[in-house]
Amino acid sequence: MKDNRNILVTGGAGFIGSHTVVELINKGFNPVIVDDFRNSEAKVLKGIKAIVGQDPIMRFVDVTNKEQLKAVFEEFSFSGIIHFAAYKAVGESVAKPLVYYRNNIDGLLNCLELAEEFKVLNFVFSSSCTVYGEPKGTKIVTELSEMQEANSPYGATKQMCERIISDVHKSGSKMRMLNLRYFNPVGAHPTGNIGELPIGRPNNLIPYITQTAAGLLNELTVYGNDYNTNDGTCVRDYIHVVDLAEAHIKGYEWLNNLSEPRTETINVGTGNGTSVLEIIHTFEKVSNQSLNWKFGPRRDGDVEEIFADTSKAQELIGWNADRTIEDAIADAWNWEKKRRDE
Ligand code: UD1
Repeated sequence: MKDNRNILVTGGAGFIGSHTVVELINKGFNPVIVDDFRNSEAKVLKGIKAIVGQDPIMRFVDVTNKEQLKAVFEEFSFSGIIHFAAYKAVGESVAKPLVYYRNNIDGLLNCLELAEEFKVLNFVFSSSCTVYGEPKGTKIVTELSEMQEANSPYGATKQMCERIISDVHKSGSKMRMLNLRYFNPVGAHPTGNIGELPIGRPNNLIPYITQTAAGLLNELTVYGNDYNTNDGTCVRDYIHVVDLAEAHIKGYEWLNNLSEPRTETINVGTGNGTSVLEIIHTFEKVSNQSLNWKFGPRRDGDVEEIFADTSKAQELIGWNADRTIEDAIADAWNWEKKRRDE
């Protein structure tokens, strides 16, 4: 008999994974983290414990190693899988495409093969707005917007993984699968116990800003000021990581209540576009300090402007984002300061 509460969370020590594990425990689920800390740190487990009051269950596993992963399926009886574990740096994927294809595709295949073998029916996949590429025409994308060619091998892995999931569904699988297309996840847990832990120099905007403000980096470079946007800088849909974690819970509960096999795809964003300059100004307001920054050339592969139409998430799983960009930046800044004090 399956324990309905047991959920495998691959990459559960990562940024989005750790916040989702907290929300799963808060809702009475038993998440089992598998991770090998290649892009995270063991101390995140202490951070989770500080929030929920219990040690999370964790197995040190490389998801691309099927034997290791299988041992976890033998140990626990899962009713579902949330599959986060993957590489996610756009620039690195251009430099190391084989590493990205091997890791991101193998991880998914192992999860789906083991789900089939162990009859695990619910599957949530971490996809990304990167699957849309550079949107043609309107910058607000719905799940039906045409996918353009991916801008990077990273984006291509997400498109391919969605394709694999769709093909598995069409083959007559009994599984219920949900692709969550994240826009730009930012922020940290409001307690400051967990947050984003970039290894080395951050690629993403918000950790770059908070590390610059904390004095670890000299100056932020804004990549390009000649885009066809309100202020010339790129526009994104930044979503608070706790809102995103809650979308996983809502999505998972929705899947678990389905009586038939199904595959769906949902945008997970706020519906609001914010420019890089607006982010800098919000940071300066929220932190009450000025940031060292300058304009630089465009970054290869950057999309000019994209944000989510979120109506499907609202209609299908009853989810929408509650937190503002100010909340997200304040929480990211609180986290940056707190972890420097440790
Ligand atoms: C991209 C992908 C996203 C993916 C994420 C993973 C797109 C549209 N988005 O996010 O799906 O999950 O990578 O890492 O493909 N910026 C600066 N200076 C910096 C850093 C960033 O100006 O030092 C600007 C970028 O040019 C961009 C914005 O800040 O306009 C956000 O950048 P970033 O945080 O790296 O995320 P995306 O590239 O949007």
